[in-house]
Amino acid sequence: MRPLVLLWGCLVLPGYGAIMGPKKIRGFEGDTVSLQCTYGENLGGYKKYWCRKSGILFGRCSGIIYATEDGKERTEGRVSIQNNLWNRTLNVTLRNLALQDSGEYWCGVKRLGFDETFLVSLIVLPGTSRPSTNLDSTSAEDTSLVLRSSSSKSRVSPTMVRILAPVLVLLTLLLVTGLAAIGGCMLRWRKQAQLATETQKNKINLSHLNTPMFPLSVFWL
Ligand SMILES: *[C@@H]1O[C@H](CO)[C@@H](O)[C@H](O)[C@H]1NC(C)=O
Ligand SMILES: *[C@@H]1O[C@H](CO)[C@@H](O)[C@H](O)[C@H]1NC(C)=O
Repeated sequence: MRPLVLLWGCLVLPGYGAIMGPKKIRGFEGDTVSLQCTYGENLGGYKKYWCRKSGILFGRCSGIIYATEDGKERTEGRVSIQNNLWNRTLNVTLRNLALQDSGEYWCGVKRLGFDETFLVSLIVLPGTSRPSTNLDSTSAEDTSLVLRSSSSKSRVSPTMVRILAPVLVLLTLLLVTGLAAIGGCMLRWRKQAQLATETQKNKINLSHLNTPMFPLSVFWL
């Protein structure tokens, strides 16, 4: 019964058994960065880990580090992991970042079958690109603003495309129908002109033709 209930929970309440964290973190060479992954209530009893995703098609875990059960911090090399049992938060700390640390990592929960995982992208920027420490606080603020605006721009652009695409299609359709209508009118005007030359003998006939033509062209436009 319990597995059934759990399955139902997974299907009906997505996120019930999930682990969540930051999608992307950045740091400069030599820096220390910390990130937190928070997991669902029902994952309390399972082992938590941090590892690097390696392999192209199916990711494998490399350099896995498990959090201790008692909530104490564990350190292996430049990586530390601590499971806070009270707010169900995994705190991962990466020290002395190197350029080759850039890549994809997982916050994971060990489970029978498939683990619950959250993919975190780490970007390590060269130390030379770090804003100089000589700079005053305002310019440091400027660079953080630039970083923030560029990341928000990349988040906005797909939405913009989704909004703009139908508008562009509509505009193109309008343009095509407009051109077709203008073309049709031109043809009709030419015909009228031809008719006019043909029926130049009696001008009454021409004025008679003109009246029904005009509303027709308006309808086409
Ligand atoms: C969880 O608790 C720890 C220690 O009390 C705290 O440092 C951390 O900020 C908390 N995290 C969240 C996401 O509340
Ligand atoms: C995460 O761990 C690092 C290293 O122990 C610590 O400096 C930092 O305050 C912790 N962050 C949270 C939110 O607990």
